[in-house]
Amino acid sequence: MDLVVERDYPTLSRAAADVVTDLLTVKPDARLVVATGETPLGLYRNLADRKTRGEIDTSRLRIFQLDEYLGLTSDDSRSLYRWMREVFLEPLAIGDHQVTRLPGDAANPSEACRAYDRAVEQAGGYDLAILGLGPNGHLGFNEPPSDADTPTRVITLTPETVHSNARYWGGEDRVPRQALTAGMKHLLAARHILLLVSGQGKKEILARTLEGPVTRELPASFLQRAQRVTVISDRDAMPTSPASLAGEV
Ligand code: PGA
Repeated sequence: MDLVVERDYPTLSRAAADVVTDLLTVKPDARLVVATGETPLGLYRNLADRKTRGEIDTSRLRIFQLDEYLGLTSDDSRSLYRWMREVFLEPLAIGDHQVTRLPGDAANPSEACRAYDRAVEQAGGYDLAILGLGPNGHLGFNEPPSDADTPTRVITLTPETVHSNARYWGGEDRVPRQALTAGMKHLLAARHILLLVSGQGKKEILARTLEGPVTRELPASFLQRAQRVTVISDRDAMPTSPASLAGEV
């Protein structure tokens, strides 16, 4: 696992954009699974600027949705697909035909999850997983407990996640209790995982992710065993003395 500690959020975002840009240079048809959440927004803004300047070509990218609330259409203002479209797909001129959705409004959500996993397999897996770190150690909506080999599936959100997401919904009682999430199995098998972590509030969960026991009770701890992981954190989120860590700017 590579740890990169950046000075602050803007430098974290630029460093993450460099990782994605480097991948696009060598593999323009890369398969990306893409988080929503607040942490990657700076990365997406950087990529959008690079796209505007003609520095990256996104026309052959293939994008996979990471998670979605159960029961929402893709046009619902609260859907994660719509959020991804606004902050990532449209600014980067990525068409819907380049995206494999997790359809929250599917008639048979479990079958839709199986179809999603088949699509990931047919694509040869993810080249890059862009992930944030949940306050409870979830990746996507792989809530604790989640084993390392879980498929894409419907999951019940923990009270902690409902609480943390209430800010987007105007109150906890309005947050859906169930969601679809890309499974741990394919996420952990990504050829490269980029975990972005920012802010004091993530310090303790990041420490447990990096150094704690590997356990289904903290799904992100399985990253310790994944083949290639780059954690980019800002100083606020870094649990130990940053000076002791390689890669600090
Ligand atoms: P955040 O979300 O980037 O908004 O902190 C991360 C997560 O909950 O997975």
